[in-house]
Amino acid sequence: MPKVNFTLNGSSVTTTCEAGMHVLEVLRDQCGIKSPKDGCAPQGYCGCCTILVDGRPALACLRRAEQLEGRDIVTLEGLPRQQRQALARAFVQEGAIQCGYCIPGIVTRAASLLSSGRARNRKAVAKALSGHLCRCTGYQRILDAIQTAGEIWDNGGDLARSEPRRSQFFGEDFGLGRKAALHGGLHCDGVGASSPKYRGLEHALGEKDYVGDLAAAGMLHGAVVLSEHPRAKVVDIGAAAIITMPGVQRVFTAEDVVGDRYTGLIVKDWPVFVAAGETTRCVGDVIALVVA
Ligand code: FES
Ligand code: FES
Repeated sequence: MPKVNFTLNGSSVTTTCEAGMHVLEVLRDQCGIKSPKDGCAPQGYCGCCTILVDGRPALACLRRAEQLEGRDIVTLEGLPRQQRQALARAFVQEGAIQCGYCIPGIVTRAASLLSSGRARNRKAVAKALSGHLCRCTGYQRILDAIQTAGEIWDNGGDLARSEPRRSQFFGEDFGLGRKAALHGGLHCDGVGASSPKYRGLEHALGEKDYVGDLAAAGMLHGAVVLSEHPRAKVVDIGAAAIITMPGVQRVFTAEDVVGDRYTGLIVKDWPVFVAAGETTRCVGDVIALVVA
């Protein structure tokens, strides 16, 4: 297998890579770096896999492994401590994290904005975020967070404000006082308090594991085989041939479903697996599940 040599978060690294691997796979699978997430690899749509290559933001899933040769790679894990702290505190304070999956990529992008002195320029930040998809927080609070991080950065590391920019609190309409979310240790103060995101700092820094980040010795992986055609007759799934392929442990098809194979919210009319002899209903219908 070919080898690549590069600098990763300040250390020299030499690692092997299989043909066709992209940089995100090398970082996550070979180097154990989990902060860059796989949201759409290798399509380059979501920005979850953003890293710094020679100081500039880049999408790890769009680069071939051999393009690592001689490069200086920095991930969220390797950012300067002050930058990590400023960004993480700002994202928690501004309520800019929901599921958090997109956030490490955005925080890495934000770090480059901090370094170039553009983090407080809302227009520049919005433009820089155009390559990032966030499916649940929405972008205004993320813009707020990067602006606030810029203030913290310019303020020598101290929180420049004790309230989030969007501090409207529904309880004020009922005569309740707002309690600030952040008290140094980022804890909340019981009923009526505005709670910071649970494990928000970990989310912001890419230290919160998602299912895709979990690993165990001898762990198997599952891949779903989906229909590529909206309407096609499944003549033969070929499970007998798949099971003979190197590493494959099991192949599940419609024949393995015990009981009712159909599901649906109102009418149970959708098969969890399309069986041989049946016709698919859409692109993405499940044909088989391969465990290897
Ligand atoms: S995983 Fe690279 S852009 Fe989505
Ligand atoms: S916080 Fe969930 S996708 Fe952005």
